[in-house]
Order: sequence, then structure tokens, then C-alpha cells
Amino acid sequence: MDKIRVIGGRKLSGNVTISGAKNAALPLMVASMLTADRLVLENVPDLADIKTMGDLLTTHGCKIDSLEKKNSLNQTLPKELSLQADRIDNATAGYDLVSRMRASILVLGPLLARIGSARVSLPGGCAIGTRPIDIHLSGLSQMGAEISLVDGYIEASVPTKLRGANISLPFPSVGATENLMMAAVLASGETRIKNAAREPEVVDLSKCLLKMGANISGIGSDDLIIEGKNILHGARHQVIPDRIEAGTYAMAAAITGGSINIVGADSDHLELPLEMLIRSGVTVSNTQDGINIAATRPIEATDISTNIYPGFPTDLQAQAMALMTIAKGTSAVTESIFENRFMHVPELARLGANISVKGGVAVVRGVEQLKGARLMATDLRASSSLVIAGLAAEGETVIDRVYHIDRGYERIEEKLSKIGAYITRETAS
Ligand code: UD1
Repeated sequence: MDKIRVIGGRKLSGNVTISGAKNAALPLMVASMLTADRLVLENVPDLADIKTMGDLLTTHGCKIDSLEKKNSLNQTLPKELSLQADRIDNATAGYDLVSRMRASILVLGPLLARIGSARVSLPGGCAIGTRPIDIHLSGLSQMGAEISLVDGYIEASVPTKLRGANISLPFPSVGATENLMMAAVLASGETRIKNAAREPEVVDLSKCLLKMGANISGIGSDDLIIEGKNILHGARHQVIPDRIEAGTYAMAAAITGGSINIVGADSDHLELPLEMLIRSGVTVSNTQDGINIAATRPIEATDISTNIYPGFPTDLQAQAMALMTIAKGTSAVTESIFENRFMHVPELARLGANISVKGGVAVVRGVEQLKGARLMATDLRASSSLVIAGLAAEGETVIDRVYHIDRGYERIEEKLSKIGAYITRETAS
């Protein structure tokens, strides 16, 4: 397994370019199952999860081409993916692929909508809490799906066609909103999703579905109304920039006392993380093509509490906590979206961080200096928090099991090296 080696103490400076958002690209790829025509996605990040989703869609009969593009200076541009599911000839999403990535559950709604049956392995993914899928299943059964659990598989079918329904989500689940929205665009009649998720990635999916001919109103609100259509058609859509990747580089710059331009980042999607950085003494400004982060003073402790969008994203909690480990004072970090999302805490403690956890709250007492150590990456975002902490730690930090990072960060060591970090990858033979 690959390892990442970081030698801390270098201030980050320069420009880092943000990739397309993983969490937007994944549902957008699944949306290709809703039409027999071609869907072309621009600005798709080159990540392990994207490859896994491609492999999964291929097993259902989708044809996928990855188009490399160069600009006039012969520089490689972000990937374009062309996806076409002119025929769906397999309704089963098998254990091997689904267990690698929880987002695979998103094929359930589109399979039911397009071919009326689906057999999807119960999902795995990051080990952050139990993460049930009851909200997805309950919404689909309200739309007429008959669902049973057989040998670790969700078996679902619709006698005739999915029908519109009035669905009120008990929690604004991102995945359930996306799944139900994709089911509803091809259902008969009107579907209303109340208490829907409003994350930018959900909005991006809605916009792409509109281009494909869907009829959705209330986009960006928690009340979506979808009028089902008989068929959708092909489209071309550009994936939004990854707000979590941008936030991760912002925390990285702050912990090193550096100053970087995060090119391509959208500050509108990062309101609370940027506010948190400002509260901790970091200067944040909008630039022509992104955001500038400049940490010229010691970091002040500030409390963080995760919430649904536009609240502080749970996917940036671990990285923000890494920053708080060297802050002046004590901060409370509250995780309200997932249970058991503090797996980075014992690893940060190995670097000398002073953190105590009680329930969903971690109390972080800032220390003068972290010291390098050997660490283990436990899940995607926790792993990036260890890299961030390693950038500030004295001496060498070696992070094992970095395949977690590769699920969600494109060329992280190359991007960090370009802005002055000492970071290398040891590839296992
Ligand atoms: C998505 C993101 C993930 C992010 C999360 C919250 C993708 C591919 N992943 O995950 O990176 O951390 O949003 O912003 O977009 N829940 C239930 N029952 C359900 C569904 C969810 O109880 O049927 C609970 C979950 O256990 C969790 C909470 O709701 O506690 C939020 O989950 P959800 O919004 O569904 O997250 P994901 O879509 O899985």
C-alpha cells in the first residue's frame, strides 16, 4: 500500500488549482442512466471513486469514454467523460463495486425509473458511522417500488412505472435527495420532495437534469417539485469546483502560516469555512479567479459545529480540527451529521495534539508544536487532516493506507509540492 511522507515546517505559497467536485461528478455520472443519449461531463476529477463509479455503470451497460483535452499551450485540461446508456442490460450492482463506495446506492432510483427493476448490494464506503439508507428506500417505496432485502442485496421492482409522490424527508439526506430526484424525473406525474438537501452538488445535479429535459422547480430550496417526463435526452454539463478540496487547501495554508491562491474555488460554496478561518485570524479575500488565503498571525482557537448546507460541512471537520490543534486556546468541535466521525483524533494525538472526545464533541486544546510520527489514514477526509497536521509538525510524518486520500483528492502530493510543501509518495511494489 502507498504511503505519504511529509516533512513539516514549510510555509505554503503560490497557486493551487481546484478540480471538479467528486460529490457532484458521481451523481452526474449516474444521471447518464436516465437517457439513451450521450451525456458529456466536463471538469471531471481523476479519482479512484470516479473510476469505481465508471466500472459500476459499465456493468449496467453504460459506455464510457474518457477524453483527454489539451489547450493551445499543450497543457492537459481536466478530463471530459462521455457516458451513454443506450441499453441497460443488467440490473444488478454487485457487492465488489458497491462495497468500495457508498455513492453506488445512487443507481437504485435511476435503474427503477429506466428499467423498472434493480438489485443493489447494501453499500459500504467510508467507515464513518452506520450510515443507513432507509430514507432512500422509504422515498422509493412511496413512489410505488416494491423493495425487499435478500442476502445482503436490495431487490426492488415497480409493477408498471414509478409514480409521483409527496415525500417528506425525515432528514435532508444528500444521497436520498439525489436518488429520489433522479427517480422522479422519469416517473409518471408530480413528485414533491420536502426537506430536500440543498448542497451545491444537489443543485448541480438538478441543473444537469434540466439540460437533459427534466422539469424541476424549487432548485436550491428544500422543497423540490418534479414533473415526470417520458424520456430525457443527452446534454453537456460542467462539474462545479470541489468545495471540500478548496477548503482542505485553505486549512493547509493556514496551518503553515502561508499564503496561497486557490484558483477556481467558489467562495459562495464555502461561506462558513471561510468565516471560521477569518475568526481564527486568517485573511481571506476573493480574487479574480478564486480565493486568497493568507495566515500572517498565530491561529486563534474557534469553535466549529458541522451542519447541513449552508452550515459548516462535515467533510471539512477533520481538516479544521487539524488546524485547531496548533491554535492559541481551546476549541470545541461538534459533529452533528455523522456518528463516529472522530477517527482522526487518535492519529492527531500521535503527533502531540491534545484532544478529548465526549459524544459528538471534541475539545481541542491548542499545543505549541506538533511532532512528526507514523500515522494511519482511516477514511477519506480524516486522511487529509493528517496530511495538514503533518505540514505543520516538526520532522517527518509518514501516513499509511493513503488509498483513502486517492478516493477524493486529485494528485494531492503534486499540488501540495507545487505550493512549497515537502511531500512525497512511496509506491508499494
Ligand atoms: C454525502 C457526501 C458525503 C457527505 C455527506 C453529508 C456524496 C457522494 N457524499 O453523503 O461526502 O459527508 O453527504 O454532507 O455526495 N442517513 C440516514 N438514512 C438515509 C440516508 C442518510 O439516516 O437513508 C443519515 C446518515 O447516516 C448521516 C446523515 O443522514 O448521518 C447524512 O447523510 P447523507 O446526507 O445521506 O450523506 P451521503 O449522501 O451518504
